[in-house]
Amino acid sequence: MLFSPSGISECVQEWNDLEKDYQHVQETHRLYKQKLEEVSKLQQSCSTAITRQRKKLKELTVSLEECKEKLTPEEMNVIDGIQESIRDRPNVFFEMESFLPKKNGLYLSLVLGNVNVTLLNKQSKFAYKDEYEKFKLILTVILFVFSFTCRFVVSYRALDALFNFLLVWYYCTLTIRESILISNGSRIQGWWVFHHYVSTFLSGVMLTWPEGKLYQMFRSQFLTYCLYQIGFVQFLQYYYQSGCLYRLRALGERHNMDLTVEGFQSWMWRGLTFLLPFLFFGHFWQLYNGVTLFRMAQLPECKEWQVVMCGCSYLALFMGNFFTTLGVVYKKYMNNQDKSKSL
Ligand code: COA
Repeated sequence: MLFSPSGISECVQEWNDLEKDYQHVQETHRLYKQKLEEVSKLQQSCSTAITRQRKKLKELTVSLEECKEKLTPEEMNVIDGIQESIRDRPNVFFEMESFLPKKNGLYLSLVLGNVNVTLLNKQSKFAYKDEYEKFKLILTVILFVFSFTCRFVVSYRALDALFNFLLVWYYCTLTIRESILISNGSRIQGWWVFHHYVSTFLSGVMLTWPEGKLYQMFRSQFLTYCLYQIGFVQFLQYYYQSGCLYRLRALGERHNMDLTVEGFQSWMWRGLTFLLPFLFFGHFWQLYNGVTLFRMAQLPECKEWQVVMCGCSYLALFMGNFFTTLGVVYKKYMNNQDKSKSL
């Protein structure tokens, strides 16, 4: 419980103590501001040094290539060693830059303005990523219940519109959060962010599709797809991604591609082999949605532009998701092979 002084002498004593404490607070705050100044100077000099290093390394690479023609085998070995080290530098600089403030890209500048979104320590970065995964999980549950209600309980166009509106908001939010994650050194592939732009567009178009025969023809297929993809598959994805995140945090690492720890790799491959069939099934469902919509577009009663737009969006989603997932798995496999060879 707080001590409350009674009587003038106790009050004066309390005031004197507070005065001393106040001096201490002022001193601590002065020190804090001084350190902040030092930190911003260090950030500035680090950023400048990295830019200078990049420029000089680029020039050196060109010069080394030119020298190569007239060299002895020993000199060639020296050059190979230098080139090997140069190849590692971009990754090191990328990691360093994820702890330095930088100018926001076009999208973040438009949405947030030029506010600094770089988190300055590993814990905050993990916490932000963790929150992003939890946000997706909560929305997955809400969207699952919503799509189930629309599919099996209430068939009402206004409720469908509300569902599509929620999807638009959800995907927009993801694009912003993912851009912030990328600024903080996340290696999310460009396609996954672009995929959310396409999904925002698709949900926006679905929102404007007027009630009618064609809408009703596609409605059940669309809602069942949402139940599967946004509800079920996204839940499995959450389980895999947050599993990776917690294991990486326990190992003090940030990226699974850089990791050779046996336990982690085998967990990751088990997770992936379980997840991949469901992911690919979802991708082919996107293709099926696209084909269905293009078939509907051939019907004489089809007047709505939304049919072709949604068809194109589903085809784009199928191609991007399918080939990017194949690429990710191939890259992980090759990485694994290289690391087992080098051990
Ligand atoms: N959305 C958002 N972020 C993703 C992502 C996705 N689909 N796939 C990977 N990432 C993130 C990872 O969390 C990781 O972030 P970090 O650098 O902050 O740690 C980074 O991108 C690199 O991940 P990577 O090592 O390439 O892949 P992974 O092992 O984390 O995941 C897959 C691999 C195949 C499971 C994942 O890419 C995936 O789920 N793809 C399919 C998505 C899909 O098809 N969705 C269909 C429509 S919903």
